[in-house]
Order: sequence, then C-alpha cells, then structure tokens
Amino acid sequence: MKKTEKITLNTIKKYRADNKKITALTAYDYSTARILDESGIDIILVGDSLAMVALGYETTHSVTVEDMLYHTKAVCKGVNRALIVADMPFMSYQADMKDALINAGRFIKEAGSHAVKLEGGYEHVVNVTKRCTESGIPVMSHLGFTPQFLFSIGGYNMQGKNREAMEKILEQALKLQSAGAFSLVLEMVPEECAKIITENLDIPTIGIGAGRYCSGQILVTDDITGKYRDFTPKFARKYADIGSIIKNAATSYRNDVEEGVFPSEAEIFNLDENEKKRLESFKTGK
Ligand code: KIV
Repeated sequence: MKKTEKITLNTIKKYRADNKKITALTAYDYSTARILDESGIDIILVGDSLAMVALGYETTHSVTVEDMLYHTKAVCKGVNRALIVADMPFMSYQADMKDALINAGRFIKEAGSHAVKLEGGYEHVVNVTKRCTESGIPVMSHLGFTPQFLFSIGGYNMQGKNREAMEKILEQALKLQSAGAFSLVLEMVPEECAKIITENLDIPTIGIGAGRYCSGQILVTDDITGKYRDFTPKFARKYADIGSIIKNAATSYRNDVEEGVFPSEAEIFNLDENEKKRLESFKTGK
C-alpha cells in the first residue's frame, strides 16, 4: 500500500489513541530523506547526531544552528509525507528564552521543518517547550540518555536504572507534556521503566534503546543501513551493509579506471560525422 496522506500532529495523536506504532528515522540530506519518505516512515528527524555521522565530530556538541538549518533545508526538499522534526543543537535554547524562541522559529520559517526537538526536562526546557508550543512551534521532547548532557552524565550510559530514577524521568515527562510537548523520545532506558512512563503519559513515547512498549521507535538511519561504521549501539538493528556496498563499488571503479576499462564506448560522447571529419584536418600549433 502506498502511503500518501501527510503526517501531522493529529496523525501522531491518532496513532497514540489507536495504539498504532509510530516509525521514525533520521536523515541529514535530500536523497536519504526522499528514500525514507517513500518507504512510509512517519517521522523524519534531522538529528544532531549528524555531528558525528555526517560531519565527523566526536560528540553532538560542536554542531551549530547554521549546520542544522542547512541540513534541515535539504531534508525538507525530499519529503512529501513524513512529519519533519529538527533537533535544536547544544546551547541554541539553553541560555535564554529569547534566543531559544528565535532559533526554534528559524527551523520552521527558514528550513521548513514541522517541529523541533529539545533535550532535557529541567525547568528552563519545560518553559521553552511551553513558549514554543504557544508560538506555534510543536516540540518533541527527549529524556533518558540525552547526548547533549554527555559530559554531565559521564558516558553513553543507560538512564532510569532504578525506581527513583524512573520516577524523576516520569515527573519531567509529565511536566513536558503539560507544557505542550507532542511526543517524547526516550533514549537508553530499561524496558520496564519505559513501559511505565509510556502508560502514564497521554503523548506517545518514541523509544531508542527503550524496549518494546514505547508508542514508536526511532533509530539513526546510518546505523541501521551500516553506512556509519565508527560505532553501532546495542539497540540498533543492522538491516543492510551499505558501507560494504559503497566500498566495493568504489574499489571496482578504481580498478576499472586504473585498467583503462572505464569509461567504455557506452559511457562517452562523440562528435557527429561532419565535425569528426573537420577535426581530422586539425593540426596542433606544436
Ligand atoms: O540526534 C539523533 O539522532 C537523536 C536520536 C533520538 C535518533 O536524537
């Protein structure tokens, strides 16, 4: 079945009400976004994971608002159906409310995304979520392991490891929900905790390493296709090995060029007969 109906916040609400699983993947460029959209993925996230995956940084911290806008614009050009969410990068919303609103607005106004994603659930982020929502900028929240807090957390560690930690995440999730967040990414949280959090919220949870009971799942496309090979997290299922396909193609191309079998007759342009004859009488000035 070809999926053509545009995904909106109402669709996401309906999926949650109908217990229909929400599918989400990341994209950072036009051609990938187009393929994901054609495959019927509901939400395409321009994640700040692009810092590592597309730009080669070690963490998400270095990516700028300009970087994110540039990639979000490219993704938006490739999408017809999916809901596009753009990650607000590190320190683009933390310092003050005015900056946060101006930056969030740019993702809608300049880049063409439908929503933004904000990490964390402390008071300022809850307030930013409220002001964005009131201003017409839908917010996807992100709790559990939040990569922008990597240095405070101390490593790529699972969060919500005991009852108290789970209660803290749920408390923040409920505040974000009241502030207007339309969905919540839950990253690297034990399945048992993600289940309770999901059951106690009205908005859908989108899990990444958070088990089977979330309302939907999100993964990094380059992890599941095997294009990003520096590190694959335990929770990412590898559906393809594009890295090897690209490497084999590049190696074959290199061999063909070196051996003079590329380009072939089929891959060249020729003059017409008349011009060919005129060229025969051409003498170099040497
Ligand atoms: O940046 C990212 O890719 C994310 C994940 C939730 C997929 O935030």
